[in-house]
Amino acid sequence: MTSLNKTSNHYDVIIVGAGAAGLMCAITAGQRGRRVLVLDHANKVGKKILMSGGGRCNFTNMYSAPENFICSNPHFVKSALSRYTPWHFIELVEQHQIAYHEKKLGQLFCDNSSKDIVQMLLRECDAAGVTIQTDSPVQVLETDELKLLESPQGRLQCDSLVIATGGLSIPKMGATGFGFELARRLNIPVLPTRAGLVPVVLDDHKLKPLVELSGISVDTVTETDSCSFRENILFTHRGLSGPAILQASSYWQPGDALKIDMFPDIDLTAYLTEMRREKPKTALKTLLADKLTRRVAQLWCEQWIEDKPVGQLSDSDIEQVVSHCQPWTVKPSGTEGYRTAEVTLGGIDTDALSSKTMACKDHPGLYFIGEVVDVTGHLGGHNFQWAWASGHAAGQFV
Ligand code: FDA
Repeated sequence: MTSLNKTSNHYDVIIVGAGAAGLMCAITAGQRGRRVLVLDHANKVGKKILMSGGGRCNFTNMYSAPENFICSNPHFVKSALSRYTPWHFIELVEQHQIAYHEKKLGQLFCDNSSKDIVQMLLRECDAAGVTIQTDSPVQVLETDELKLLESPQGRLQCDSLVIATGGLSIPKMGATGFGFELARRLNIPVLPTRAGLVPVVLDDHKLKPLVELSGISVDTVTETDSCSFRENILFTHRGLSGPAILQASSYWQPGDALKIDMFPDIDLTAYLTEMRREKPKTALKTLLADKLTRRVAQLWCEQWIEDKPVGQLSDSDIEQVVSHCQPWTVKPSGTEGYRTAEVTLGGIDTDALSSKTMACKDHPGLYFIGEVVDVTGHLGGHNFQWAWASGHAAGQFV
């Protein structure tokens, strides 16, 4: 091993990845008096934080709980999440006087800008004596007792090496497979990865009539084979998006259908039967438009349902209408993939890690945190909560 200048090139902790998890880990370790260096190959830190929540960063969810996470071992998340809760992060946000609000369902967003969160993390890093280097692609040379890395700053050594390089989504923002590749090289199991929280694509044939609905949202209950979400769907020029679809996409497998109840608050058969009696002259299209919006109702009637006064609907006509709405069954041909996905499902197998410290069981001093790990949150601030909690967990032990 090359001889190194211990004072300048040796760190207690080197963290690769200056995203949400990496910065939180750095703060926690720095506050414990550890000498911490964070390296990122991008030209600035926290790019995903900056672009998150439409520029307002949905930084946590007040109701975040283990049930909001997908992981091959559902118990794995419990320790870290219980030791760093949404309220810990909210307290930090309040200490920095960042204005925020609940949008819905416990989702907390900045009033002003995601930049507030990045600045807060950088101020905390500064106060904890953390050094951050951007534009710093690294190579891990050895992971023995003293870890050895090659970086633009030269050879670096550390006692604890933390991999916080995130998942594969949005390669344009600097996402790489660094963590997965390092794990494979070290024989650490990596579960198959795929895009999550991602719009679905419909093939041309199914999409053609729907294209003109691009931009319209409808309140639904959207169901996959294993779960359901009460949220809006959004018609897009390639297929479907919106919170219900993004949530369902994390559970969707190629070939599966999505069942979309377009009338989540009513029993449509009972409603139409009642309207047939009470408003027999009203056009079916008009009735559907009350709940679906005019354009969706019109298209549904042009494509799949014959429009007529509801008084003229037979029982089998009603059955026919219901079969296209409650649920509307649609088979996506795929997803938009990592190009637009918010997260990556799969990743470092949690069986290889300690749930308390995020340390690799077979590689002392090596840690994986954040999205690179096989833990994926639901939409609504849960993914950042995992980044904060796993970063904090490792930061207590590195
Ligand atoms: P993250 O991806 O944040 O950071 C990884 C860092 O590692 C990056 O800075 C990257 O440059 C660096 N890196 C990668 N490869 C490297 C290499 N080879 N060498 C050096 N550095 C390397 N979640 C949420 O809870 N609320 C929200 O509002 C949103 N919104 C949202 C919008 C969009 C468009 C996306 C794409 C994602 C979200 N998310 C979200 C998800 C959230 O952004 C994500 O789960 C966290 O950022 C994950 O944090 P990590 O720190 O693990 O990875």
